[in-house]
Amino acid sequence: MTEVSASILTVEKENAVRTFYNLETGKINYFHIDVMDGKFVERDTTELMKDYALTISHISNLGLDVHLMVENVEEFIDEYSMLEPEIITFHIEATKTEERTKNAIEEIKRSGSRVGISISPDTNLEEIKPYLNQIHMVLVMTVVPGKGGQKLIPETLEKVKELKKYIDENNIDIDIEVDGGINAETASLAQEAGANILVAGNYLITAENISEAVAKLK
Ligand code: DX5
Ligand code: ZN
Repeated sequence: MTEVSASILTVEKENAVRTFYNLETGKINYFHIDVMDGKFVERDTTELMKDYALTISHISNLGLDVHLMVENVEEFIDEYSMLEPEIITFHIEATKTEERTKNAIEEIKRSGSRVGISISPDTNLEEIKPYLNQIHMVLVMTVVPGKGGQKLIPETLEKVKELKKYIDENNIDIDIEVDGGINAETASLAQEAGANILVAGNYLITAENISEAVAKLK
């Protein structure tokens, strides 16, 4: 079954609570929280995302799907684990060394969340293979991380296919999430490639009817 995680990066403050409500009643599965530190990527969304994540945890029962686009992974795992997210995902390009990657995995597990590792378009799949049997999800970036509203890079779906093949051949039970440029058309391509969790920002937030948009993605 395909799940939908709504990226709330472009939600405006004035409409935030109403939009969160519409997303939840529109049957999304998670709220996707894009934490950017102004270093790993240019934008800094730390304050806004903390604010939104807190609001959501007060008004919704849906799980948080926290996507850390930050250099200091350890600090933000600490900060977000207090909200008991369903999933915390960090970037392999941020932890870099095996030691830091393993520690981050352990820290997230200890906090009770599911562990995701994200991989940017330019990073080779080989980088994450050693960790696949220790984590719950791979987040394949289908755009260069940093902003919403970009076009999906077609080659990234080849990476999804390759990953899907690898996990099936090796009997690894893991979710594959795609993030960036997902709309009704790219959603079906991503599913065909092997993704089972779709992040969508712009497509959902600008939809006239969110329920219909979620149904189309699924
Ligand atoms: C990009 C973020 C994505 C993005 C998705 O750096 O990680 O979650 O906001 O937004 P859309 O669906 O608009 O590409
Ligand atoms: Zn994201």
